[in-house]
Amino acid sequence: MNEKPDFSKNANMASTAPAFLSVWDMHSYYGESYIVQGVSFNVHEGEILALLGRNGAGKTSTLRSIARVSDPEVRHGEIWLDHKPLHKMTSYEAAAAGLGLVPEDRRIIPGLTVEENLQLAQIAPPVGWSLERLYELFPRLGERRKQEGITLSGGEQQMLSIARALARDIKVLLLDEPYEGLAPVIVDEIEKTLLHVKQQGMTTIIVEQNAVRALELADRAIILDTGSIVFDGAASEVLENPQLREEYLAI
Ligand SMILES: Nc1ncnc2c1ncn2[C@@H]1O[C@H](COP(=O)(O)OP(=O)(O)OP(=O)(O)O)[C@@H](O)[C@H]1O
Ligand SMILES: [Mg+2]
Repeated sequence: MNEKPDFSKNANMASTAPAFLSVWDMHSYYGESYIVQGVSFNVHEGEILALLGRNGAGKTSTLRSIARVSDPEVRHGEIWLDHKPLHKMTSYEAAAAGLGLVPEDRRIIPGLTVEENLQLAQIAPPVGWSLERLYELFPRLGERRKQEGITLSGGEQQMLSIARALARDIKVLLLDEPYEGLAPVIVDEIEKTLLHVKQQGMTTIIVEQNAVRALELADRAIILDTGSIVFDGAASEVLENPQLREEYLAI
């Protein structure tokens, strides 16, 4: 059986409790461009982690590296999910191991209804949330189940994208800018849903430009700056620290 890496010497590791998701000394490249420059962090089961930082800091690249998407290429480091070595997996295998990436562009499949988009995610077992449960979580999707997915409003498409991830049996939800372009009232609705999903035990990493909203939702926060972690601690600590807010988040 594979053993978890020993993080005891890593200064970024605040907690000694065994982590659910562990990223250890991850370095990623787009061709020759060196982007994720030795990132290490832990996420505990049931936690919401906000991954923050300015434009181009490497947030999306970090999420994509964890999800094992082909670009960027992870050339060094280890990623463990519930004792499984994601760093040795393809993106398909990582998805099967329980990673649910909700990309920034939402990827709703044209020509399919809301329900067909969800059913497509449920083709491969093990199936996650049932349609009934998903429609309970997102009543707007239930009302529009026969509507073509790409004709939904931006907020509804975001809901469908999250619902589609939950339709698979995932352990970690990776959200890239879920609030982008959405009205505050829709952000409220999605936030409420994410809290409900957390109550069901889900572990979540949220990348957001809307740092205050993400920090209000999250238990912990990591701030990235040019591909390195400059802060790892309680979300409330960032909200209360004007220097961090100004220097790395411009809020
Ligand atoms: N496909 C790519 N090829 C080359 N460089 C890339 C590619 N994608 C991203 N980069 C570069 O990697 C760096 C980090 O980009 P990334 O998208 O991870 O940042 P981000 O923190 O998500 O930014 P934003 O807040 O704007 O979404 C940037 O300098 C970007 O130009
Ligand atoms: Mg990004």
